[in-house]
Amino acid sequence: MSLSRRYILGALMASAGTAAGAFSLPSQKKYTSISSIPKNSVFGFGVRKDAHTLTADSPDVRIYREGVRRMKELSESNPLDPMGWAQHWAHHSLFCATSDFDKQVHYGWYFLPWHRAYLFVLEQKIRRMLDEPTFALPYWDWTRNPSIPPWYFGADNPLNNTTRMQGPTDKLPSDFTHVSPAMRAQLFSQFGGRRRSHALDQIEGTLEQGVHNCVHNWIGGEMASFSGAGNDPLFQSQHGQIDRLWSAWTSQDGDRMPSDTRWRHYPFFFYGPSGEMEIIYVEDVIDTEKLGYSYDRLDFRPTLTAANRPMLSGGRIDLGKLTTDPAFVAGRANYDPSTEFQRAILTYDRMTLPHQPYHHRLYFVEADDPKVAHYVTTHTILPIPGLETGLEMNVNSQIEIPTSLMQRIIEGATIRVVGEDIPLKGRPPIKSPVPFTGVGLNIQPRS
Ligand code: C2O
Repeated sequence: MSLSRRYILGALMASAGTAAGAFSLPSQKKYTSISSIPKNSVFGFGVRKDAHTLTADSPDVRIYREGVRRMKELSESNPLDPMGWAQHWAHHSLFCATSDFDKQVHYGWYFLPWHRAYLFVLEQKIRRMLDEPTFALPYWDWTRNPSIPPWYFGADNPLNNTTRMQGPTDKLPSDFTHVSPAMRAQLFSQFGGRRRSHALDQIEGTLEQGVHNCVHNWIGGEMASFSGAGNDPLFQSQHGQIDRLWSAWTSQDGDRMPSDTRWRHYPFFFYGPSGEMEIIYVEDVIDTEKLGYSYDRLDFRPTLTAANRPMLSGGRIDLGKLTTDPAFVAGRANYDPSTEFQRAILTYDRMTLPHQPYHHRLYFVEADDPKVAHYVTTHTILPIPGLETGLEMNVNSQIEIPTSLMQRIIEGATIRVVGEDIPLKGRPPIKSPVPFTGVGLNIQPRS
């Protein structure tokens, strides 16, 4: 038995009487309306901090590095070790690189809770392994610092990943980190994704398809693929930021979570912090304080200014005209434009996922003056290999459009939706644009 393995067994035995011992096996668990994570099974409490305010010597960075180093050692002696890094990586691949509808946690409303649980489990494992109850995973606030935190690089650094295609001085394009389209969403289904079923099209939330996908693919290498991403320790700082956006969005209005029990009671499976297989229900992860962590701050810096707003250039893909024509307005055959509306959601549909990641920007173009193009958002589509189950089909996009613009459409302004490809340095050129099938508007009247 290797030293590290003995260490981890010792650590587990030492904590068995307190923290880890409170876990029960999934078979003994029944859904309870409160929480299936016993309060005393959460070890410690930590405040997640901005990675750029920390250095290689800050306690949370040191502990993270040491935790990942030990987890990698565990996997070297036994790749199946549930506390090891290989299992942590494989777990993401299992639920994220799959075209199996029943497992896949992207492209819909399980995206945010599943990734919250994934980070929680890792944070707990490291706290226990190193007996550091206040350890918290640092997040990368790319709205303030568009470069990868420097302590993620360096030879012999367990937090490095040599497949990344960006170095410590490269900067994310400002529109890749523009959070307003997600933050102005009023509904969870629009912010975090819709319910997915075999009968329905899959619709990703604006947060997932916007900043989340954009940053993953910009980093490149393993981070740009569902099968590889779990192996890059930077994943945790990228997802810390996504999770923090969810917390910030929730804090604007406490009542925004879906009440649908198909969401709240949905079970996720994890090798839990004690190495046992655990069930974590969506409802368990709604409140981060119950998971033993919070964030040092919940604000974001606006990254777009008048000077750096994207401008429509070549490669236009005309997706269609926005109208309040009843045939065009989804689910409102008898839509009455004189009713006061509460929100309007633009959906745009595509036939299939591309076989390569695909970034595109969306603009609203005034029909009477095609030179006037208003930037709307930047989305990235990430592919999943596997044609057989249909996951590649009909993954659509949505964005809540600003009230002022909707008002103009109602008043008769003619506005077209135009897309534009964004090539990235070092990536294969986009051979053919993703086949979009058109746009729709979902106008919801004030009730
Ligand atoms: Cu499961 Cu950011 O990916």
